[in-house]
Amino acid sequence: MSLVQISKVSRKYQLNSISVTALKNVDLAVAAGEFLALAGPSGSGKTTLLNIMGCIDKPTTGEVLFDNTQTASLSSDQLSDLRAEKISFVFQNFNLFPVLTAVENVEYALFLKKMTADQRRKKAEAALDLMGLLHLAGHKPLEMSGGQQQRVAIARAIVREPLLILADEPTANLDHKTGEEIVDLMKASNRQNKTTFIFSTHDQKVIDRADRVVRIWDGEIVSA
Ligand SMILES: Nc1ncnc2c1ncn2[C@@H]1O[C@H](COP(=O)(O)OP(=O)(O)O)[C@@H](O)[C@H]1O
Ligand SMILES: [Mg+2]
Repeated sequence: MSLVQISKVSRKYQLNSISVTALKNVDLAVAAGEFLALAGPSGSGKTTLLNIMGCIDKPTTGEVLFDNTQTASLSSDQLSDLRAEKISFVFQNFNLFPVLTAVENVEYALFLKKMTADQRRKKAEAALDLMGLLHLAGHKPLEMSGGQQQRVAIARAIVREPLLILADEPTANLDHKTGEEIVDLMKASNRQNKTTFIFSTHDQKVIDRADRVVRIWDGEIVSA
């Protein structure tokens, strides 16, 4: 059974009189536990597809089934509850709060969960420890390298124990070696917790680390 299944999905952007079709009739099913790379050049539709699978954006036409729920029938409040409970995101630019320390950035992801401050702190520290970063728990993002910041962002994603982590070009702002380390850490988390990962990239070394590669070109899936 699929964790996320999209059927005949198209996404059009309308800019004044110009219409751009970012996705054309895309079908894709991703099973729970997959470690999947979405590969394609800039402008091919990777971000659009991740946003639709992550229930941030809705398709113009087509259906999105997430964890057996037809998302078209959900209100925006229900969609944000679904995301909060089941999906985490990792971004190219890390998107950490600059005024918060590493451990505070991770804890923040647990803010809506019913936990005591002490429980939040312990979970956040454990997630940082998994990323090999406990010694930097008190550092702010600007006191860390890009690779360290991305490890904090992954700790923040995994600490919520989501079903799915979507990472949009998570290694694009890192040197190749650091990028490969980041993908290896994501894979370790996939293996350990069975969390499903879908990450976009155009780096072949990163693509090579995936269990499955979906190639997208001009808004169409060319191999899956
Ligand atoms: N908000 C938007 N408004 C108009 N066009 C957009 C918007 N977002 C993306 N596009 C267009 O949709 C296509 C796919 O973009 P995107 O999904 O960002 O691709 P990728 O992530 O692979 O670079 C591109 O032609 C892009 O210019
Ligand atoms: Mg993109």
